[in-house]
Amino acid sequence: MTSPDALPPPPSRAARLIGLGSWLPLRQITNTELCSRLDTSAEWIQARIGITTRHVADPATATSDMAVEAGLRAMKSAEVEHVDALLLATTTPDHPVPSTAPTVAHRLGLRQVPAFDVAAGCSGFVYATSVAAALIQSGTAHTVLVVGAETMSAIIDPADRSTAPIFGDGAGAVVLEAGRAGEPGTLGPVAWGSDGEHAGAIYVPEGGSRRSPSPVTGAEAGRYVHMQGNVVLRHAVRHMSQVARDAAAAAGWAVRDIDRLIVHQANARISAAVADDLGIPPEGVPSNIARVGNTSAASIPLLLAHATADGRLTAGQRVLVAAFGAGFTWAATTLVWPRGLQALT
Ligand code: UT7
Repeated sequence: MTSPDALPPPPSRAARLIGLGSWLPLRQITNTELCSRLDTSAEWIQARIGITTRHVADPATATSDMAVEAGLRAMKSAEVEHVDALLLATTTPDHPVPSTAPTVAHRLGLRQVPAFDVAAGCSGFVYATSVAAALIQSGTAHTVLVVGAETMSAIIDPADRSTAPIFGDGAGAVVLEAGRAGEPGTLGPVAWGSDGEHAGAIYVPEGGSRRSPSPVTGAEAGRYVHMQGNVVLRHAVRHMSQVARDAAAAAGWAVRDIDRLIVHQANARISAAVADDLGIPPEGVPSNIARVGNTSAASIPLLLAHATADGRLTAGQRVLVAAFGAGFTWAATTLVWPRGLQALT
C-alpha cells in the first residue's frame, strides 16, 4: 500500500465561489406571536437565543421549492445556465424517498446531471460544499451548484418551547467553479468530523427504519425533533472552536488572520462563545440569527448571502466558515472573499 506521504502533492485545481443566492418564505413568526401560544417570553428568547423573528414556509411550500428559488438566484449571480452536478444539504427532504436533489435539478432545467442530498444536520452545507470542492479538484466536475434548504417547521413541534423558538425555514445556495488553488474565492482544506455517541441529542425518533410513524400526538410525538439543548450547546461551542482552529491551521492561517467568522446560526450565545474562544471581536462575526433563527443546513449560505448583500463580507477578507449540528457533525473551511461577487437575496 502506498503511504499518503508518497503520493503526489494536491492538484493546483480548486473550487472557486462564483455565485451566491438565498430565499426566505414570506411569512414570519415573531417572538410576540410565539409567546401567545407557548409558555415563554420574548425577553427569554431574545436573551437566551438572540432571535426576534423567524421565517416559516406556508403548508404548500416544501424544501425543494425553496431550494429551487435559492438555486436560481445563485446561478443568476454566477451568470451560468448549467452546472455539472447539484448537491442539496438538507435534513428535511420533501419525502423519505426519493432524495430531493434530483427534483431540484429537474426544476432548474439541469437535465440529467448527477444530483444527491447530503444529510449532516446543521453542518450539511459545509459538508456538501467540501464534497463539491473535491469533485471539482479531481476533475470530475467543472461547475457545481450546492444548496442548503430546510423546512424545519415540518419537523418542529409548535407546542414545544425548547425547540419552536429556535428554528426557521429558508434556503441558500452557491455556485462553485474550477479555479486555481490560492486565488481569491477558492476554498481551503476542510476540517470536519462526527461523533455518533451523541446521536440522541438532536433526533427525530420516528419515520426512519428504526421506528415507523405512530399515531401519537403532543409532546411525545415521534415525528418531531427532540433536542437536549444544553448538551448540544456545550458540544457546539467546543467543536466549532476546535474545528475552526483546525481549518485555519490547514490553510496556513493563524487564528488572528481571520477577518470574518461565519458561524452556524444556532444560538447567538454559541456564536459569541466561539468568537470569544478564538479571540475574534464582534465586528468580525456577522450574524442574521435575529431575523431568520436557526435554519439548520440553510444557515451558512443564508448568512453568506445576507452578509454580502449588506456589505459585511467584502473582497479580500479572510473568511472562516464553521458549522456544527445533529449527528453530532462539525465542519469548517476557509476562503479569501472574492471580488465582484453579488448575492441575490
Ligand atoms: O443547530 C444545531 C442544533 N441546535 C442548537 O445548536 C441549539 C443549542 N442549544 C441552545 O440553543 C440552548 O440550549 C437552548 C436555547 C435550547 C436552551 O437554552 P439553555 O440556556 O441551554 O437553557 P436550558 O435548556 O438549560 O434550560 C434552562 C431553563 C429551564 O428551566 P429550569 O429547569 O431551569 O427551571 C428550561 O425549562 O430554561 C427553561 N426554558 C425556557 N424558559 C422560557 C427552556 N426553554 C424555554 C423557553 N422559554 N422557550
